Amino acid sequence: MTHQSLTDVNMNGMEKGQEFDDEELIVPPKNLDELCIELRKVFAKDRVNVEYVKALLSSYRSNPRDWRKYAKFDPHRYTRNLVDEGNGKFNLMLLCWNESQGSSIHDHADAHCFVKILHGNLTETLFDWPKSDSEEETQLRVKQVNTFPKDGVTYICDDMGIHRMENTSHTDNCVSLHLYSPPFQSCQTFDQNTGHRNTVKMTFWSKYGQRTPFGENESTPENN
Ligand code: SIN
Repeated sequence: MTHQSLTDVNMNGMEKGQEFDDEELIVPPKNLDELCIELRKVFAKDRVNVEYVKALLSSYRSNPRDWRKYAKFDPHRYTRNLVDEGNGKFNLMLLCWNESQGSSIHDHADAHCFVKILHGNLTETLFDWPKSDSEEETQLRVKQVNTFPKDGVTYICDDMGIHRMENTSHTDNCVSLHLYSPPFQSCQTFDQNTGHRNTVKMTFWSKYGQRTPFGENESTPENN
C-alpha cells in the first residue's frame, strides 16, 4: 500500500492540505437531516475539500432529538449504526460506545475518515504504521493521544497513521458520527505489542434505525 503525504491535493478527489478559512460561507445545518443533505451535495462534486467538511461538521450543534433513533448500545462492544449511504460516495454512521468500550487499532482502507462527537468524550490514540512486510515483532509507537469533547471534530486517513478510539469514561457513554469516503467494508487491525495485522470485516449493528437482521452480515462473525 502506498501512503500519500498530507500535502497531496487529490486523493479519491479529496483536497487535503488546502486551506479553508471562510467559515462564514457555511450555513450551519439546523439538524442531522440538513447535515446529510449538505454532505451529499459536497461529496457529489469531483473534488472535496477536507477542511470544508470538517468546518461543516463543526457547525452542526449536536441535538439528541436528531440522532436518538440511531443510537443503539450493546453491553459487550461498541456498535456501528448506518445513517446514510451518501449516494454511494460515503457512509455516515453513528457509533455508540458504552463506558470503557473502544475499537481495535486499525487503518482506514485508503479512505478518508471524519469524526464528530455527538455526546460524551472520545479519546483517539494515533500510532505509527508498523514497518511493512516485517515479520519482526515490534511494539507500535504512540504518536499522539487526543480527547475530543461534544461537538469536536477530527479527521484521519492512512498517511497520518493508524488509530484506536475509546470512550475512557467509567460513568458516561459516548455517541460519535463517522463519515467514511469512499465507503469500505473491511480494514486491517493491528496488535499493539507485535505490530502483526489481520484483515477484518466491518459490519452494522443497525441500518436506518432498524436492527440488522441476523445473517445479513454474511457467514463471518462481526470482528471490527
Ligand atoms: C474508529 O475507531 O475510528 C471507528 C472504527 C469503526 O468504524 O468501527
